[in-house]
Amino acid sequence: MMAVRQEKLEALLNETRLFAPSEKFRHGANAGDPAIYQKADADLTGFWAEEALRLDWFKRWDEVLEWNSPWVKWFNGGQLNAAYNCVDRHAASLRRNKVAIIWEGEPGDARLLTYGMLQREVNRFANALKSLGVKKGDRVAIYLGMVPELAIAMLACAKIGALHSVVFGGFSAEALRDRINDAQAKVLVTADGAWRRGNVVPLKANADEALKETPSIEKVVVVNRVGRSGRAPVPMVAGRDVWWDGIIADAPVECAAEPMEAEDTLFILYTSGTTGKPKGVVHTTGGYLVGTSTTHRYIFDLKEDDVYWCTADIGWVTGHSYIVYGPLANGATTLMYEGTPDFPDRGRMWGIVEKYGVNVFYTAPTAIRSMMRWGTEWPAQHDLSSLRLLGTVGEPINPEAWMWYHENVGHTQCPIVDTWWQTETGMILISPLPGLTATKPGSATRPFPGVQVDILDEDGNSVGPGAGGNLVLTKPWPAMLRTIYGDPERFVRQYWSRYPGKYLTGDGAKVDNDGYLWLMGRVDDVMNVAGHRISTYEVESALVDHPSVAEAAVIGKTHDVKGQAISAFVTLKEGAQMSEALKEELKQHVAKKIGAIARPDDIFFTAELPKTRSAKIMRRLLRDIAEGRALGDTTTLADPTVIAQLRDQYESEGDAD
Ligand code: PRX
Repeated sequence: MMAVRQEKLEALLNETRLFAPSEKFRHGANAGDPAIYQKADADLTGFWAEEALRLDWFKRWDEVLEWNSPWVKWFNGGQLNAAYNCVDRHAASLRRNKVAIIWEGEPGDARLLTYGMLQREVNRFANALKSLGVKKGDRVAIYLGMVPELAIAMLACAKIGALHSVVFGGFSAEALRDRINDAQAKVLVTADGAWRRGNVVPLKANADEALKETPSIEKVVVVNRVGRSGRAPVPMVAGRDVWWDGIIADAPVECAAEPMEAEDTLFILYTSGTTGKPKGVVHTTGGYLVGTSTTHRYIFDLKEDDVYWCTADIGWVTGHSYIVYGPLANGATTLMYEGTPDFPDRGRMWGIVEKYGVNVFYTAPTAIRSMMRWGTEWPAQHDLSSLRLLGTVGEPINPEAWMWYHENVGHTQCPIVDTWWQTETGMILISPLPGLTATKPGSATRPFPGVQVDILDEDGNSVGPGAGGNLVLTKPWPAMLRTIYGDPERFVRQYWSRYPGKYLTGDGAKVDNDGYLWLMGRVDDVMNVAGHRISTYEVESALVDHPSVAEAAVIGKTHDVKGQAISAFVTLKEGAQMSEALKEELKQHVAKKIGAIARPDDIFFTAELPKTRSAKIMRRLLRDIAEGRALGDTTTLADPTVIAQLRDQYESEGDAD
């Protein structure tokens, strides 16, 4: 089932504008010689081994790559520590007083942490974790907003060999509970609250709710973020809850880095799959750090004095790889911003670029499309001349948004890197190299050196230029996921069974006659809402959990700004009354079960859902209806009249928005 939209595709494939890197950019680029591609293709392990040597290893690896598909080992036998590589080695160098993290709080407060200061903070918290009983291999859940303590806590875990599982602060208490329980986390790190558009997200209250059913949690560390502004302190449970400030106050500032095997797990990060149960994606230490630091240096063309800003939330993989681990491993200055782009006004991002002289800026197409709607006056009010490179991630970027970004943010001077990757891939796999690749608006261009992709039809044949198919990866890469936490069978089934020996991405793609790749969105039941990955099943389960709902089918409907919006078709139980109030209640119910990001945009009540004879709901047809298209193939439906009636009803009631 391809979710690829034919019309959109034609327009994209007719894109002929080419933007070549300027001579000047190419000249100074970290990747300025096109031979890098041939080199990596000719000697994959040699290429990655050379990059790996930029890290500090306590013990050199025995073998670069061991590949028994789908099981992989990179740098096996090698020993290193991620926090040592991201912090200690810089703190022991001329970078000691270089700013590692620039943090801008939503209310306008700020904090700069040099590598030396970061080292002290990481060590103190690492020792604090030890004093709470955390040992190598234990899991620590982290549920915070975008505060420096989030990066510090991750690095502190890495320092002592504990695994972190960061849960996005926008997730609900139930989502947090399920993730804690799946990982059997011993400690939770949270905050009294998080700032969001001037309001407080009650992280501690959510955590307390979750903690009613998380027997593995022994201790809770609470960062005092919002209390400082004169708010009443949150209730603390004696014997369980401790304040961050309190516990680090007496903690020693020295902490030895635990030597970790290259294949020891660094972290778990949950992401939505094609079932209702999120998957704990497992990343290991050596390959992940080599993959993220290498791609960060080449793709973002990192220079020693750059201020680099990735606007993602660290609760998602983009923040893990390209706010924390990749940049810090490279000794970069990485910027973290706590708030939203429109607070206190719609020029906030550009104000931050101006304030800190940001050179490299990496954001999501959704954000660009919102800013497009807000108008060019916002970026025009700020001095953006420090910018020299722009990036995008998370969803396909439409050429119109690409051009807006190019003209109004980059002032036509900055290359744009459209980077394709996934939570599972850990690192960027498809992207221009900004000094080498001529870009086409809307295309992520070509695989990173050493990365091999193919586009396959249903029978596993390569489709060749112009035809759509399933994007697969045919060679291993260092930052690839190693398994799903506690569920290796699901790992094999999900990614490696459709085409044995090849990694199934779940994305549709096409290659054009110039060999450029065009990513066309998910082909499975995963939605991409504002760059956030949400499973249709998760939202459906949340809906049917409501006492009035009999059945629900959820689809991602094309949306101008968010890429996709969540639309739900719902059948009610006998006796339940359809009403606007009930629609609201159902939306609220989903937000409570999963988090506000999963709240449906519209809900449509129907007496029946279109199903195949084997009772499978045909979401493809619901998408056709919601997007006003001619219905696709209906021959497999158990009762074809259902869909015709549904369409008539949908059209007569108007867009459910
Ligand atoms: O569909 C692709 C889309 O985001 C999915 C991965 O989502 P997640 O694991 O949450 O990671 C997002 C950030 C890496 C992919 O399967 N996607 C990501 N980047 C792009 C993209 N689609 C098109 N173009 C991109 N540059």
